Amino acid sequence: MTRTILVTGAGGQVGVELARAAWPEGWQAVAVDRSALDLRDTAAIARTVAAGHRGQPFAAVINAAAYTAVDRAESDQVAAWAVNALAPAAFGEACARGDIPIVQVSTDYVFAGDKDGEWEPADPVAPLGVYGASKLGGELAVRTSGARHAIVRTAWVVSAHGNNFVKTMLRVGGERGALRVVDDQRGSPTS
Ligand SMILES: NC(=O)c1ccc[n+]([C@@H]2O[C@H](COP(=O)([O-])OP(=O)(O)OC[C@H]3O[C@@H](n4cnc5c(N)ncnc54)[C@H](OP(=O)(O)O)[C@@H]3O)[C@@H](O)[C@H]2O)c1
Repeated sequence: MTRTILVTGAGGQVGVELARAAWPEGWQAVAVDRSALDLRDTAAIARTVAAGHRGQPFAAVINAAAYTAVDRAESDQVAAWAVNALAPAAFGEACARGDIPIVQVSTDYVFAGDKDGEWEPADPVAPLGVYGASKLGGELAVRTSGARHAIVRTAWVVSAHGNNFVKTMLRVGGERGALRVVDDQRGSPTS
């Protein structure tokens, strides 16, 4: 029997890579995009998780979808909280009910960015903006849902698909003789 993992954010950087990854034999990912499951619809999340795939319950859920427009979130707060916090709460509740483990993809934006060194999981969280706060809300919702879970805080995601820092540098570097970039940020590009 093939075990199926529900992946959200099918069109995003992480979702695309999870969908096309070589899963171990006996495992498959079913990735859904916004048209198949709009994360603002919490009832649809509950229905989708409960329905499973072809008569079988999902073996796991990976929630890789998010409202990732960091600047826009400042003026679009309800939408950011709906996708980044309320949707994970709905996934957590549905996964707890079905005893389905869930992986919630999160971000280093839950931190204040004031540490001189690498972030550790136990470092104090102190988001500075709406995006980070709403992602932290999603973490807390999953943590307190009762579902078995893992929270993955990634940063500076780079893939062949979509927009990211590396692709921007390659594009701009190809257009100009010299690059001028801010030098007050440090990150760890994550493929
Ligand atoms: N990119 C980074 O550098 C970075 C850094 C740290 C953490 N993360 C986290 O990593 C995860 C994946 O990020 P990513 O880089 O793959 O982001 P991305 O490329 O922006 O993809 C996000 C995906 O979420 C989907 N989405 C947004 N609103 C939705 C909704 N209402 N219903 C259904 N789907 C919706 C988007 O669909 P549409 O295309 O239809 O909008 C898109 O496919 C997110 O949890 C993000 O917070 C990313």
